[in-house]
Amino acid sequence: MDKSMRLDRFLADMAVGTRSQVKEMARQGRIQVNGATVKKADTRIEPGRDVVFCDGQRIDYAKNEYYMLNKPQGVVSATEDNLHETVLDVIRKNPPRTFEGDGIEEGQRARGPRRKDLFPVGRLDIDTQGLLLITNDGDLAHRLLSPKRHVDKTYFAKVEGRLPEDVKERFWNGITLSDGAGLMPAKLEIVTPLEKEEPRGIQEVLLTIGEGKFHQVKRMFEAVGCRVVFLKRLSMGSLKLDERLKPGEYRELTKEELAMLEHV
Ligand code: URA
Repeated sequence: MDKSMRLDRFLADMAVGTRSQVKEMARQGRIQVNGATVKKADTRIEPGRDVVFCDGQRIDYAKNEYYMLNKPQGVVSATEDNLHETVLDVIRKNPPRTFEGDGIEEGQRARGPRRKDLFPVGRLDIDTQGLLLITNDGDLAHRLLSPKRHVDKTYFAKVEGRLPEDVKERFWNGITLSDGAGLMPAKLEIVTPLEKEEPRGIQEVLLTIGEGKFHQVKRMFEAVGCRVVFLKRLSMGSLKLDERLKPGEYRELTKEELAMLEHV
């Protein structure tokens, strides 16, 4: 199979510039392939075999990139936004975190995302924090988000109000939201219950849902007379938030995490 591709496509994929900018850079003699200056941007090269330098910097090709972000509050789960900072802005601002023994090659450390076609897999509300996968792998995203697959998502929430006695059963039996949408069974665990005599207060809970309807977690608690005041996603399928990541920090997925996602 022909594994070659055009030089301008290679460099544009790696966010060096648009294809026309890359063409101009080549014309100016700023690109070398295997040590020789290449002035024609339509030259075919083979990623992984040919060594490409641009302005003296080596450019390695990445077909797919996978990052786990601990999404901070105040940023939107989008690739572009006129008003707010996006999760893509967050990961392009700083290099990824690396941890001892995470299997990420030395040469890749501290360089950060290269692909220009990265996107967040699904959405978290602007005020929700926690696990968000960012990739350019459309097949994986499709598998994780497909309504047919019911990939479990677990959230930690702080909920204001008093949860009804039978809330666990009601969630487990599938509640109906205010717009009439009937939900699938969801598993609720109450981490810190209210004292009996306390009429209202904050309870900490864990909720696992297999769907991803708009504002689903907040609307589920609204349906039982309570209000979510803090929400954080902890897991999506087999992928668990690395708690070493502070809000706004991210890292590459490990080989093991990627292998587990293959089976979604
Ligand atoms: N449910 C919500 O209400 N908000 C989120 O961000 C995710 C799930």
